[in-house]
Amino acid sequence: MKNRQWLLARRPQGTIQDSDFQFVETEVPALSAGEALVQNIMLSCDPTQRGWIAMDTYLPAVKIGEVVRSIGAGRVVASNNPDFAVGDIVSGLTGWQDYMVVNAKGQLTKLPPGAPLELAMSALGMNGVTAYFGLLDVGRPVAGETVVVSGAAGATGSLVGQIAKIKGCRVIGIAGGTEKCRWLTDEAGFDAAIDYKAEDVPARLKALCPKGIDVFFDNVGGEILDAALARLAMRGRIVLCGGIANYNATEPPPGPKNYLNLVVQRGRMEGFIVLDYMPRAGEAIVALAGWVQSGKLKNKVDVQHGLENAPATLRRLFEGRNEGKQLLRVAE
Ligand SMILES: NC(=O)c1ccc[n+]([C@@H]2O[C@H](COP(=O)([O-])OP(=O)(O)OC[C@H]3O[C@@H](n4cnc5c(N)ncnc54)[C@H](OP(=O)(O)O)[C@@H]3O)[C@@H](O)[C@H]2O)c1
Repeated sequence: MKNRQWLLARRPQGTIQDSDFQFVETEVPALSAGEALVQNIMLSCDPTQRGWIAMDTYLPAVKIGEVVRSIGAGRVVASNNPDFAVGDIVSGLTGWQDYMVVNAKGQLTKLPPGAPLELAMSALGMNGVTAYFGLLDVGRPVAGETVVVSGAAGATGSLVGQIAKIKGCRVIGIAGGTEKCRWLTDEAGFDAAIDYKAEDVPARLKALCPKGIDVFFDNVGGEILDAALARLAMRGRIVLCGGIANYNATEPPPGPKNYLNLVVQRGRMEGFIVLDYMPRAGEAIVALAGWVQSGKLKNKVDVQHGLENAPATLRRLFEGRNEGKQLLRVAE
């Protein structure tokens, strides 16, 4: 059996290029005792992968020549390991490849039989856990407060805004384009949306948040973070989830101009990484599953196809072309 793999060929400069990677075909290795073979079915595309291939972050950088790191879900197709049965559906860091060999329990997590894969890899997966703890544990919103979310139509942001609504907050989303903004207000239940590509964000925040922003959940950074800093309410909280506006920067971005407003408003700005919350993931998944089932939480997924399209599909995140969670199906 052949295994197609995307290897890292060089560290990206600016926007990721197909030539940053090498598409190779190798033999699937024979299994040794204690090993199992997993066939990837679906890959998760995440902005953080741009960081993983560029430098050491909260995980060591992928080395040149290594398979590109990616969250994925797949099926056990052969096993010499009692912890993995043929047919089990598992998820974890499966990488940009058709097949991976596992040898240890804990390397991949078993999904419950029949779990819808798209849901397990979005609202009930890493993005759901990020949104849940980032908003509730770091942002600590209180009913009646004003919550603003950037990257609001994306995998994480769309869940953050809807959880804030469930918790009784007034929610404003910032996203790129009329259609994404329409989806936020008409379908995801946000109170208002700002199209940062067409509107004056500081002016719209001033109009929509006359008493200031109590919680700003930031996925984007840059000028949008600066605009939110300027409108922070007294004791406002800024949750730093990510800063995609600067992930492709070739020079260090300028610091936020309006950070001293944290002093004036006695504010708090705090970053977090979802990995720290994994021991408590079950708590989030139970709550999220309940909201999905009752129709309170809408989950949008955008599924592209074919392992050969992995670099192009990852790039969609940086072009704002993904509509909800970006997934890549690589096998049936
Ligand atoms: N801290 C953690 O543990 C953690 C975990 C997961 C994700 N994250 C972070 O959360 C953020 C969202 O990730 P996600 O997986 O949910 O992706 P996503 O929001 O589904 O996709 C990325 C979105 O970013 C927006 N974007 C791209 N370039 C931009 C720019 N220059 N300025 C403003 N917006 C831009 C695009 O939306 P528009 O069309 O609206 O521009 C795009 O759809 C990222 O920063 C990611 O690194 C952090």
